[in-house]
Formats: sequence, C-alpha cells, structure tokens
Amino acid sequence: MIFERAAVAADHGLASAAGVEMLRAGGNAVDAAVATSFALSVVRPYSCGIGGGGFMLVAMRDGRSVCINYRDCAPAAMREDFFESDPDAFASLRGGKSVAVPGHVAGMLHALARFGTMPIARVLEPAMRLAREGYEADAHYESSAKEVMAWLDGQVGRRERFGMLWDLFLQRGLVRAGSRVKLAGQERVFAKIASDGLAGFYEGEVAAAMVAAARRDGGVLSLDDLRAFRVREHEPFVTSWGGRRVLSAPPPSSGGIVLAQVFAMLESRGDELRAIAREQGHNSAAYAHLVCEALKHAFADRARYLGDGDFVKLPIDEMLRPERLRAAAARIEMSRTQASESYGVAEPVRDDHGTSHLCVVDEAGNSVACTETINFEFGSLVGVDGFDFMLNDSIDDFVTRRGVANAFGLMHDGQNLPAPGKRPLSCMTPTIVQEADGSCFMMAGASGGPRIITGTLQAILNATVFDMNADASVASPRFHHQWSPDTLQLEPALLETSLRDALAARGHVVTKRAPIAAVQVIRKHAKGWEAASDPRKGGSPAGY
Ligand code: DON
Repeated sequence: MIFERAAVAADHGLASAAGVEMLRAGGNAVDAAVATSFALSVVRPYSCGIGGGGFMLVAMRDGRSVCINYRDCAPAAMREDFFESDPDAFASLRGGKSVAVPGHVAGMLHALARFGTMPIARVLEPAMRLAREGYEADAHYESSAKEVMAWLDGQVGRRERFGMLWDLFLQRGLVRAGSRVKLAGQERVFAKIASDGLAGFYEGEVAAAMVAAARRDGGVLSLDDLRAFRVREHEPFVTSWGGRRVLSAPPPSSGGIVLAQVFAMLESRGDELRAIAREQGHNSAAYAHLVCEALKHAFADRARYLGDGDFVKLPIDEMLRPERLRAAAARIEMSRTQASESYGVAEPVRDDHGTSHLCVVDEAGNSVACTETINFEFGSLVGVDGFDFMLNDSIDDFVTRRGVANAFGLMHDGQNLPAPGKRPLSCMTPTIVQEADGSCFMMAGASGGPRIITGTLQAILNATVFDMNADASVASPRFHHQWSPDTLQLEPALLETSLRDALAARGHVVTKRAPIAAVQVIRKHAKGWEAASDPRKGGSPAGY
C-alpha cells in the first residue's frame, strides 16, 4: 500500500492503526512505534509484549541514530550450568525456569523519554482501548493457539499447570478466528505504567505477580532482578550494501553482523550475483545457492563466536576483516556444497512464533524499525495472574546444555552460556537502509527465530537486486539456511519447482518449511512510502 506522508507496518492491522493514531495527532515515529508496540502486546499476545523484550532501531532525520537494547536478561540466580542436570528436556523453553527478566516496558519508556514527544498516558491509549474492548482473534491467532494446544495435550497436567494460558488465551481450547479476546488485566498494567512509569511495572503489584507466577512454576525470577533491569543503548551496527548505508542491531543480536558478513561476501561476488539475477532470475537455483552458502559461513561464525558483548569478548573485527570475507566468498563453489566444518569466516579464537516486527516512518522522515519477542508462541506459557500477559521464554536462546541445539536448532559455543544479567544471543534484525544523504530508502525486519535474518536479508535483496516493490519483497517465497542443521529450507511454492532438484544436485539437503519468517517493510516510493505487512501473518499496514 502506498501512503503519501507517513506509514506504519506492523504484523496486525490494529497495531498499525494505533501508531497512525499518534502520527495524526502530531506524534513522531517513536511515539507511533511505542503505541504500536503496546498495541501488539494486546493483539499479538503470543508473539511479543510486556512480558518480553526486543531491539528498537531509531534513525532521526537530524542525524541521531541509536539501537535501544531492551532484550530480556538472565535472572541473578542463573549460572551457566543451570540446566545441565535438569531432567525436564523442556525446562529452558516452557515454564518458570525459561523466564528471563522482561525488558519491554523499560525499553518503551526509554525510547519515549529519549526521542518521543507525547506523554506515556496518551501513547498507551490505543492499547488500553484494545485491551478493554477486546478484539477478534484472527487466523494467525487461531493457528498459534492450536500449536500450543497440541503441546499442552502431549502430557496430562499441562492444561492445569498453565491454567491462565488455557482459560484466558486459549479459551479452554475453544478459541478460533472470530473469537473475542479481552485482556482487562493488561489494561490495569497499562494504567499503572501511565501513572507510575517504570515503578508501575518493575515494582509493586505487577512485579510481585510476575515473580509469583515464575516461582510457582519452578523459576528463579526475583524482585531484585526486576528492579535491577537496565536498558542499554548502542550505536547501530553499520554496514553497507549496493552503495547504501545499512543500520541494524548489534550484539547481543546476531542480526547486524550476519547481514554484514553476507552483504560483504555477496559484494565480493557482485558481478556474478548481478549476472545471475539478470540471466537466471529471482529464486533461481544459482541465486538461492550463492545466498545460502554465504549464510552458512555467517551462521557458522554466529554459532562459534557470538554472545552478549557486555559479558564476553566478541571477535567482531576478525569476523568483518575484508580479506577474510573475500576469502570465504571465494571458497563458495557454485556447483556444490562443502563439508560443514569448512564454513566460517573468522579463525577460531584462542584464549558464542513469537516475535513481531514493526516499521514506522513519520512526516519528517524519522524512521523506526523495531523487533520484539516473548520467544516461542505464548513464551514460557506462564501467565501473570490478574494482569493477562505471558512471560517470555528467552532463556532458551542461550546454550542451556552444552552441545545441544536450542528450539530453533541453533548450536552455540560457550560465548552464549547463561550468566546473571547476561542477555541471550538473538536473531532479531531491525534494519534501516539509508541513501547517501541519510534519508530512509527502506526498512525491514521479521519474526521467525533464525529465519528473521534470512527473511530480512531476502526482503532487502528483493528490493535492491531485483527492484521489487514492498509487497513483492515481502510476499515472494523464501529459502533459509542456518549452517547447522545442514538443511536448506524452502517454502512450498519453491519446493514445487525444479529448484529443489537443482539445489539437491549441488549437495543441499532440501526440506520444506512453511512459513519462513514474517517480514514487515516500508520502502521509499515516488509518491511517498510503500508499506507492506507479511501476508504470512495476516497483518496490514496503515498510513496517510
Ligand atoms: O531473539 C531471538 O532470536 C528469538 N527469541 C526470536 C524468536 C522468534 O522469532 C519466534 N518466532 N517466530
């Protein structure tokens, strides 16, 4: 959809509308992003919200740009061997132990104080209204609910253990597209935040209820953890692609670095990439192979070297050394894949269905790209009594058992072990691509675990290499490779073509995956801005 002056692309139409309400009332992109984000807490309660955290990338037209890191962190009682001898294989993924200290509310208040223009009470209004009046669950809500119901039904007692989830969010197994969802408890949380700011969430009744909910289910979250939570500000991770400046999330997200490595490798094979694009086309076997081989190098480095830079030393210079990236790109053979252990850019160092992405651009051209999560659908499944929200299970993004992949199949080395206050390595990739004059060319980001990075990458490549409009950049079928496991995932539309055989002939183990990520994009257009929300998640953009 094209909007002349300003736009919001979230993965739910009501959340996009919440942001536009702020823009029309004179708010800027950050006011709108915060309003959209709180609205998502209500309308996508299984994806993100006040029980989780994220990264917000802000680029103001006056030249200020920052990445606000409100990624949830490990409670003080969580040491690196916390899960090693736990008999419950799901302990880091579902239940009280999987809960990290939620960062969302602190992040929103920080963003608003730093860059916003409106009072928090005003920005919270749309979310409060949605929580109070309720909304209709959509098809995506129904499918997420069904997925979690299937897990609950896998063992007797789970429905009772996660009682609030079962009663309120799943409506005792009856929730369907069209069912009305009302979250009066979240409205009470918003009212407390509106009147008491940070203390309304991190102290008092809401804090006590979060701690009680996590501890009742075996967790270690404490009031001290909540009081100690601090937002971090980082310089955006800056790289370039096709002559444009790309701003993305730095560690503890891996998104910016993986994008930077892949862009550098593709740039060093740039003539070949452009010839493939021209002669063989979008999603041809040669194109998918080249991009996946570059992704495998980058994801191998991600697994080995990345973690929270506040806790471990990250060899980022080595990972980005141009000669190493050129050498890795040169090792890519177009006719075949290679042995898994041969992937990676840097040398070993001697001495690392939830989720929602939104984009906002305002009339002044300020841009915000923001990705947030409670991790898996409905997070830890632990609901906060009286307040109608779910606590995250971001702890599973750490390596919780050495040598064992996490729920996204991601392997990590020791860099990403848990420690008190440490943030788990993330794939969240809020990204802004700028023209040479600092104006926004496009924004992108996604949900989908590791597929966040590949979804974001492909949306940018679709727009820049194949000159697709925003809708096509988002909707086109996608592929995914994360190095380990060594499988190349294709969405069904690609699987049914000759692509599958051509990729298998090169040595890829091809599997089906649907969907691969849900991407939101805003792109500059001759008439203003073109905004697209991924049809895979049923969102819609808004603007004027
Ligand atoms: O931060 C991360 O990388 C994950 N917690 C994201 C989880 C996610 O995208 C779930 N998705 N659909």
